[in-house]
Amino acid sequence: QQHEKDSLYIVLNYAKNYYQNLLWQSDEGQAVGLSYFKERGFKDNTIKDFELGYSTDAWDHFTKDAISKGYQQEILEKAGLLIRKEEKQFDRFRGRVIFPIHNVSGKVIAFGARILKADKNQPKYLNSPETEVYHKSNILYGMFQAKTAIRNEDTCFLVEGYTDVISLHQAGINNVVASSGTSLTLEQIRLIGRFTQNVTVLYDGDAAGIKASLRGTDMILEEGLNVKVVVFPDGNDPDSYVRQIGATAFKEFIRQHSKDFITFKTELYLVEAANDPFKKAGIIKEIVESITKIPDPIKRAVFFRQTANLLQMDEGTLI
Ligand code: UTP
Ligand code: MN
Ligand code: MN
Ligand code: MN
Ligand code: MN
Repeated sequence: QQHEKDSLYIVLNYAKNYYQNLLWQSDEGQAVGLSYFKERGFKDNTIKDFELGYSTDAWDHFTKDAISKGYQQEILEKAGLLIRKEEKQFDRFRGRVIFPIHNVSGKVIAFGARILKADKNQPKYLNSPETEVYHKSNILYGMFQAKTAIRNEDTCFLVEGYTDVISLHQAGINNVVASSGTSLTLEQIRLIGRFTQNVTVLYDGDAAGIKASLRGTDMILEEGLNVKVVVFPDGNDPDSYVRQIGATAFKEFIRQHSKDFITFKTELYLVEAANDPFKKAGIIKEIVESITKIPDPIKRAVFFRQTANLLQMDEGTLI
């Protein structure tokens, strides 16, 4: 078992080097992959720090290369790098830029691969499947690069995407990890909890992002961590926004717009429900439900008091 995992780590590391070499050394990699990253504003150092790469648009260049180097086909398949259909076999990642995914100790365990031009017949990102070393629900993208900063700052920024993590690092914000689009899991929250008790959710400023923030904050509260939320102007995610306004203004925006979950929920809902007492009552109940999820009785009491003040309600009634 351990022996097989070790084989997977070795071949995944080989693949990472292969995709990195293609990006930096080949004409195609430079013309297509590197210029894609540069157009997104990624600097050379950033691209190297995150070990980004490029996969050529051919059926089996990686597989052939790896087999010629002595890697077994079976291991390539178990690592999620090779797809076998009937008699044919081909590379999983083709014609995409590559984002290696590391575990907490820095070993490459999977890849995310982005298409270069929007194509409605293909997913924007193609990811490794679940493997012996990659359990998606236990992993937060960027944790290896972020963990020291998370401990030092005693806060973790949680974003949706690979490029949000990378752009924020480039802007000097290193304590950031991504849930990679899927809904947040308890394992991921516990992983953050090993480094800090404070989470600030920076999800995309669209309907999906706000919905995911609401679900995420309740789970984080339930795990006993403190949670704040920042909502970005419509259509922006941390990557697009930091590029638009710059690192300094972005940090200031975060500082000014971090809201505790009650203010976040209240502002989100109560504004539109202000004239409808039935709606308003329903929303107040939802906020109370969130508060009851906080395991610590003192924190719970503080939030009941704050909600009572904010909503001009009797605290006893809320409790
Ligand atoms: P987004 O759609 O917000 O993408 O998905 P993004 O991170 O902003 O990427 P860019 O800026 O367009 O390059 C957030 C995350 O959800 C996962 C990826 O991890 C992505 O970073 N995702 C998204 C997928 O796995 N597959 C997809 O097809 C789309
Ligand atoms: Mn396992
Ligand atoms: Mn999104
Ligand atoms: Mn996004
Ligand atoms: Mn984006």
